[in-house]
Amino acid sequence: MDNQFQESINYLTARIKVKPAIAIVLGSGLGEFAQLLSDTIVIPTTDIPHYPHSTVQGHAGKIIFGTLENAGRRSAQLIVFQGRVHLYESNDVQKVVYPIRVAAALGAGQLIVTNAAGGINRLFDSGTLMFIRDYINMTGENPLIGSTVSGTNGYPRTEAALTPDLLKMAKLVALKHGIATKEGVYCWTKGPTYESASEIRMMAALGADAVGMSTVPEIICAHNSGLKVLGISCITNMATGISPTKLSHGEVTETANRVKNDFTRLVSEIIFEM
Ligand code: HPA
Repeated sequence: MDNQFQESINYLTARIKVKPAIAIVLGSGLGEFAQLLSDTIVIPTTDIPHYPHSTVQGHAGKIIFGTLENAGRRSAQLIVFQGRVHLYESNDVQKVVYPIRVAAALGAGQLIVTNAAGGINRLFDSGTLMFIRDYINMTGENPLIGSTVSGTNGYPRTEAALTPDLLKMAKLVALKHGIATKEGVYCWTKGPTYESASEIRMMAALGADAVGMSTVPEIICAHNSGLKVLGISCITNMATGISPTKLSHGEVTETANRVKNDFTRLVSEIIFEM
């Protein structure tokens, strides 16, 4: 562990009383989930030494420690990341996975990573909540390049990065609470531009159901750090060429806003089962 990272960890450990067990990364427009937390400690990421922060609108960086409480139930201790750094901001994938390394170092054993994504699967609509079953990495980047990997025999972990048991449990939770969800393959691109219609046709041919500019490096890093991982995409728009309307960040935040009740209910009920 390098010195700068250790300084970030020291800063955070001095401010919390209980170690987090579950980490949650909130995607574009999905940050309001954090308002449900009780007994919170809120830390702007700009206060943390060496912590990378985002400049993108709607990604205001905060770490919130707390728990969920509902109808006499209390969740495990949570560390919630509101706002994330994207690869297109710096082209430095280590900045992108910094929060995951922080969560792992503080003791979190499970991760729910969420995002706003474009829908490629024509059976989806804007507003669809999609569990990520698997991913396609179209960036050529990998957060484990050059790192001291933590899998067996000095190689990165090779088994499924998204934890099958968590996916199974999450689908049951959605069913039990009457929240409509889909399941699919998330394709990671660098951005910052949205895709061309031809790129979307290519991704569809390769088996992608959704596309976005995040989440895969976090999944890879978390898995390699030994965390169980669940991914959820909010399909905020249909991808270029699938939808007749022109894509905008406005549409992304508008849709995220429309589905935030279902999203927060889904994530909360999953956390209570973890
Ligand atoms: N493409 C890439 N990233 C996205 C999209 C999209 O259509 N929507 C939200 N994030």
